[in-house]
Amino acid sequence: MSVPNISKEDIINVFNYRHATKEFDTNKIVSKQDIELILETARLSPSSFGFEPWHFVVVQDKELRGLLKPVAWGAPSKLDTASHFVLGLSMKTPLTKWGSSYVMKMMKDVKQLPAEVIEMYSKFYREFQETDFNLDTDKKMFDWASKQNYIALANMMTSAAMIGVDSCAIEGFHEEKTEQLLKDKFGIDTEKYGLSYMVAFGYRKEDPTNPKTRRPIEDVITWK
Ligand SMILES: Cc1cc2nc3c(=O)[nH]c(=O)nc-3n(C[C@H](O)[C@H](O)[C@H](O)COP(=O)(O)O)c2cc1C
Repeated sequence: MSVPNISKEDIINVFNYRHATKEFDTNKIVSKQDIELILETARLSPSSFGFEPWHFVVVQDKELRGLLKPVAWGAPSKLDTASHFVLGLSMKTPLTKWGSSYVMKMMKDVKQLPAEVIEMYSKFYREFQETDFNLDTDKKMFDWASKQNYIALANMMTSAAMIGVDSCAIEGFHEEKTEQLLKDKFGIDTEKYGLSYMVAFGYRKEDPTNPKTRRPIEDVITWK
């Protein structure tokens, strides 16, 4: 495995180049290879205990995109113009609770841990959920999975910018109505998955009109 050798200038350039793209150029399509690379950076993202509490649905069907518009006020211009439109689903309690068949399968089949390590890990995981993080409601469990999914989101947006692909994260949707729609029309098991965010990919129609605004570094970082 080679040590990455990206210049510091390029890294900062990527972060300045990425902006929340409101409208995409409908004449430009992100290549299969590029969207697969972006999705791969989601798959490779770190997660708590390495349990990957996420799933990504790429919505290319025009009719399905249309159905999302009335429930997602932050998305219409992206649903109309994005080359690729992704739903970031996060796992709910039945999948992520300690001892669940998903968690056990992850340890046994994906991580291929020996039985005694699985037993030890399971104890830690239970204690973490019940005591350390006090994840005693389904809402808390979902939000915890979501936190991890946002790492995948950030990685997708950054890797996209690295290859000149634009993006926009979208939380502008009605949670309950969107979930109902995902259940009724997208065939998503909403007992097991909820929607954390949407994210659109494509190429900017025009450069952002305003320069990037951020609080000064002294307001954001404290050194002790
Ligand atoms: C989690 C999240 C949710 C967002 N939701 C929306 C949205 O629904 N619609 C939208 O147009 N922009 C959305 N944005 C974009 C932000 O408004 C934008 O990132 C922020 O204003 C900073 O601008 P920049 O990304 O261009 O630097 C979202 C961004 C994040 C990270």
